[in-house]
Amino acid sequence: MSEIPNPAPTVLLTGASGVVGQAVLARLTDCTVVCLTHSTPVPGHRAARVHGDLTLPYFGLDRSAYQDLADRIDTVVHCAAVTGFSVDAEQTNDLNVRGTESVLAFARRAQAPLQHVSTAFVARRDLALDGYGSARPEIYLDSKRIAEQAIVESDVPANIVRPSVVIGDSVTGRISQFQGLHAIAGALLKNALPMLPLEPDTRIDFVPQDLVADVIAQLVRTGTTGGEYWVTGGPAAPTAERVIELGLALGRSLGLSLDAPRFVSHDMIDRLIRPVFIDALPRAQRRRFDDMLAMTALFNTQEPFPSTYGHVPGVTSFSARSLEDAFTTSMRHYARAKGMVRPSEVAA
Ligand SMILES: NC(=O)c1ccc[n+]([C@@H]2O[C@H](COP(=O)([O-])OP(=O)(O)OC[C@H]3O[C@@H](n4cnc5c(N)ncnc54)[C@H](OP(=O)(O)O)[C@@H]3O)[C@@H](O)[C@H]2O)c1
Repeated sequence: MSEIPNPAPTVLLTGASGVVGQAVLARLTDCTVVCLTHSTPVPGHRAARVHGDLTLPYFGLDRSAYQDLADRIDTVVHCAAVTGFSVDAEQTNDLNVRGTESVLAFARRAQAPLQHVSTAFVARRDLALDGYGSARPEIYLDSKRIAEQAIVESDVPANIVRPSVVIGDSVTGRISQFQGLHAIAGALLKNALPMLPLEPDTRIDFVPQDLVADVIAQLVRTGTTGGEYWVTGGPAAPTAERVIELGLALGRSLGLSLDAPRFVSHDMIDRLIRPVFIDALPRAQRRRFDDMLAMTALFNTQEPFPSTYGHVPGVTSFSARSLEDAFTTSMRHYARAKGMVRPSEVAA
């Protein structure tokens, strides 16, 4: 591990329009940030933008623009990735593997350290992740593992940051795009979640986006490289049973009348429920169901993730209680955004 502090570096941020990228951008207020934008505009006006595509040679820039960019940049934060489970292997690997290799080549050219965002779920090697219709989480996870390997084997000073599921800001609940866990909690709050394919004591590991962003921003500032940081609840992550209790308590506080879902096995879904109910759904709904099934399968192990982000200087660990509070805040924000809340609650 090495450390070359640079309190106000110029940072190239890939994936700046995404969930993690937007949260990181909001935390890098003391740095000059250049966002590599792709197809979605990055909100706000603080950062400079360079339009590029990581799947193209030289990010799709002409050689001199690429070299100018490399000359300006002190640090690279790489958040861009294909994150959906229903994207095919070629497209996923194009960005997650070959795009990461291009980012490494750029960092080498710029002589800049790299903060690479991976996922804690690379650890789930023990799961048999197949049989979710269109959802193929193994394609995504393999691509993230191969990208990590490229980072480890390269001579570019780098950190690997591995968040678990990212939820909204711990104080406001805000997030640029609702995630799979929001969809599950949303179904619970709509009283449309009769069953959940999980063991009640399975840990549901999530982290608020501001924690992930703080870890990355601190790594940028301290110039620490050579580390792997698990940004997870780990042993502090709540069980599925507790998450449902929190969701029901939130629902009650919002004046909603909800039934608790039944915990069922994946096997029961496959043998009894899919053939009768799921296969008859329209394609889009079936896809949503498959994504949910694949996501719950990723949680399906007794072993908690490692959790090591507390070693990053200046970052405070979240307790089990503060993770639960962040979940409730996030889901309350979701309920308000989706109009599930009485007008008196919106003002609260
Ligand atoms: N969200 C989570 O729960 C979570 C959990 C663990 C780990 N992670 C990791 O965190 C990182 C960020 O995830 P996220 O959730 O923020 O992703 P996201 O919201 O899906 O955003 C993906 C980003 O990648 C950009 N992108 C897509 N194709 C590109 C291309 N060809 N060239 C350049 N940029 C391109 C997108 O820009 P456009 O929209 O303009 O195409 C977008 O900014 C990923 O490495 C992911 O694996 C996320």
